[in-house]
Amino acid sequence: MKTYTLITGASQGFGKAMALDCAQRKMNLLLIALPNSGLGALAQFIKTNLDVDVQYLEMDLSTTESCFSILEYIHKHEISIQYLINNAGVLSRGLFDTLDTTFILKQIAVNVTTPTLLIRLLLDNLKQSERAGILNISSMASFFTLPKKQVYGATKSYITAFSKTLNKELRQHNISVTTICPGGLNTTTRLCYQNRLVSWVTRQTVLNPEEAANIAINAMLQHKTLLVPGFVNQCLMFLNKILPEFIKDRLTNRELDKFPPGKLQTSV
Ligand SMILES: NC(=O)c1ccc[n+]([C@@H]2O[C@H](COP(=O)([O-])OP(=O)(O)OC[C@H]3O[C@@H](n4cnc5c(N)ncnc54)[C@H](OP(=O)(O)O)[C@@H]3O)[C@@H](O)[C@H]2O)c1
Repeated sequence: MKTYTLITGASQGFGKAMALDCAQRKMNLLLIALPNSGLGALAQFIKTNLDVDVQYLEMDLSTTESCFSILEYIHKHEISIQYLINNAGVLSRGLFDTLDTTFILKQIAVNVTTPTLLIRLLLDNLKQSERAGILNISSMASFFTLPKKQVYGATKSYITAFSKTLNKELRQHNISVTTICPGGLNTTTRLCYQNRLVSWVTRQTVLNPEEAANIAINAMLQHKTLLVPGFVNQCLMFLNKILPEFIKDRLTNRELDKFPPGKLQTSV
């Protein structure tokens, strides 16, 4: 039976890189992103060049209705989802008192509510596969207390904690839950620019989306639990375990001071 990999936020950046990586492995795709994001063109490109079936849905994942619409589409078209990749995410940088309240709620909806609800709604479908997998895109920010990334970091902490526990629960159904925690990724133009302004050490933590995508899909297919891609990032995770809090605080504050208030704030 034909099975599909559902990828949210597949129109650009990390999601697009993972879509291309999966298609190169001959995995059929169901791609989701906002309307007018070029998703149709991407789907057509993959279909033509990589010889897999690609379906796509354009919708706003900051609403719970979108998750029910996805379920309805899957039922209607009798699609079997073997892999679910929760990638869509709203990034941000800014002091909490400067963040717009509507933006905060949208970030929590896209980063937390939607992946949680989507997993719950698609569980029965995933259980139909002999071996299925969920890949949740978290961030290294989920492990650190980063000023100016307070809501974003907290949404990713939720994803990391939720995924690790869910992985234990779903093992009995042969469904693995893999969490990927990238450091920086050169996805948007703004991020590429910001990532050039940071210190040499921080620059070493940044990966290309294609490189990170390959690592993430390998981890999902090997049913790994949690992975921080990149050697330097793994060293930082080790340092995070052994360094005292006051040194970590100094390091994170110094780095973030490079973006003074009013400069390069809001979503990235
Ligand atoms: N970039 C980094 O440095 C970095 C580091 C660690 C983790 N991550 C995580 O990696 C994931 C992807 O990040 P990225 O850098 O590739 O971001 P990106 O380039 O901004 O892409 C985000 C994707 O999510 C989609 N999306 C956002 N809001 C949506 C909404 N309301 N409804 C539907 N789709 C929506 C976007 O669709 P549209 O194109 O239609 O807007 C886009 O396809 C995120 O979960 C992020 O937290 C990124």
